[in-house]
Parts: sequence; structure tokens; C-alpha cells
Amino acid sequence: MDFFEVATSTPTVRRFLDRPIPEADLMKVLETANMAPSGSNAQPWEFVIVREPDARRKIQSTYEELWGPYKESAIIRGRTTLSARAVKAIKVGDEFAATLAIVPVHILVFLDRPKMRVERGSADDLFNFGATYGSIFPAIELLMLSARALGIGSAMTTMLSSREPETKAMLGVPELYQLIALIPLGYPDGGFKRPYRKPVLPRLHDGRWDRAWPLSRQ
Ligand SMILES: Cc1cc2nc3c(=O)[nH]c(=O)nc-3n(C[C@H](O)[C@H](O)[C@H](O)COP(=O)(O)O)c2cc1C
Repeated sequence: MDFFEVATSTPTVRRFLDRPIPEADLMKVLETANMAPSGSNAQPWEFVIVREPDARRKIQSTYEELWGPYKESAIIRGRTTLSARAVKAIKVGDEFAATLAIVPVHILVFLDRPKMRVERGSADDLFNFGATYGSIFPAIELLMLSARALGIGSAMTTMLSSREPETKAMLGVPELYQLIALIPLGYPDGGFKRPYRKPVLPRLHDGRWDRAWPLSRQ
């Protein structure tokens, strides 16, 4: 697939088919993710690839427990009426949380903290935030884009981080690794729509903040 077609048609997929992913495709996706850049080329990523149905069910039930309160606090609370977009987000989010276990591959992404040489939660960690997390999300994005190029959908999710200790215990992950994301991978039930984004022009500055990009001055 053309790169620009891939980059503009990789939405968050939340409806999946119960269809396995060929091993060779999965390996290609992981090999591509592994090509990501990172601070000092530390390559601080580890992937736990969960395919066993029981483990996927456990991940799903944890995710679903978190989704309920998140939905209340982030989407519903404080609103008397919900926009059509919010109603849809709730419906699709509910469905995603309820069906996550059917997604054939759950990739759990862990950050190797010692490789980043900054202690988690320290003042340096806050200062170093960009370099630390910026050294793992490019790998996640490459994983998602390469999956898309093979017709495989994905969703970037970080909700599980608030249940990090039990997720790590379930998967036997040593203390020093930090849970960053759960990326379900599977074939979408539906196509790959172009995600909605606001236009880029109003966000472009020509050399100085107060100088609009030439095209947006017209
Ligand atoms: C750092 C990060 C964390 C996210 N966590 C979740 C999550 O826990 N659950 C979820 O359903 N979507 C999650 N998303 C997906 C976003 O909701 C999604 O990227 C955004 O709504 C744009 O969706 P679209 O690309 O389909 O238009 C996350 C995205 C990012 C970048």
C-alpha cells in the first residue's frame, strides 16, 4: 500500500472480527515496530503478545471495569444532553470493552525503565517526559501503521495502565518494566475509514508564532 494511503486510513478500530492473524504478518508488524527511533537508540520496548483466549478474557474484563468509570467521568459527567458524537463514542466504546476478548492478538507494550536511565516518578522523570515516552510511542505507531498496511486494524489504548500491578502479575512481567499500552490487533468489522481531524493550516506558523503560514493568510 502507498504510505500516504496507510497514514490517512488508520483509525482506531473498535469493532473486530474473530479471525486469526497469520503468524508471518504478525512477525512483520513486530519487526517493523522494532525499527522505531528512540532516545540514544535505547530501544526500550518489550512486547507481550497475548493470544490465549483465557488471558484475553482477563484483559477484557479488566479493561471493561475501567471503561465504565472512565466513560462516566470523561464523557457523561457534567453534561445534561449528549452530542451525537458523544453518544456514538459511548456506544462504540461499550461495544469495544465488551468484545475485546474476541480480538485475536493483544499486544501489551512495556517500557524498559532502566534503559531510559531515569527513575519513574522522579523530578528528572517529569523533566525527561518527552524523551522517555517519546521513545516508546513511535514504536507503537509503527506497529499500528504496519498492521494497517496488511489490512489489520488496531487501537491505541492506555487505560490498562491504572491496573498495572495486576496486569504485570498476570503476565509475569518483572517489576522494572512499565506498562504503557494495550494494542489489540485484528481484522476490522467494517472498513478503514479516514479519521476526522481538524485542518492543519490554522496550526501552522511561518517562522514565528504570530505569522500565519502563507496559504492560510489568503
Ligand atoms: C495515548 C493514547 C491513549 C489512548 N487510549 C485509549 C483507550 O484507552 N481506549 C480507547 O478506546 N481509545 C484510546 N485511544 C484512542 C483515541 O481515542 C483515538 O486515537 C482518538 O479518539 C482518535 O481516533 P481516530 O484516530 O479513530 O479518529 C488512545 C489514543 C492515544 C493516542
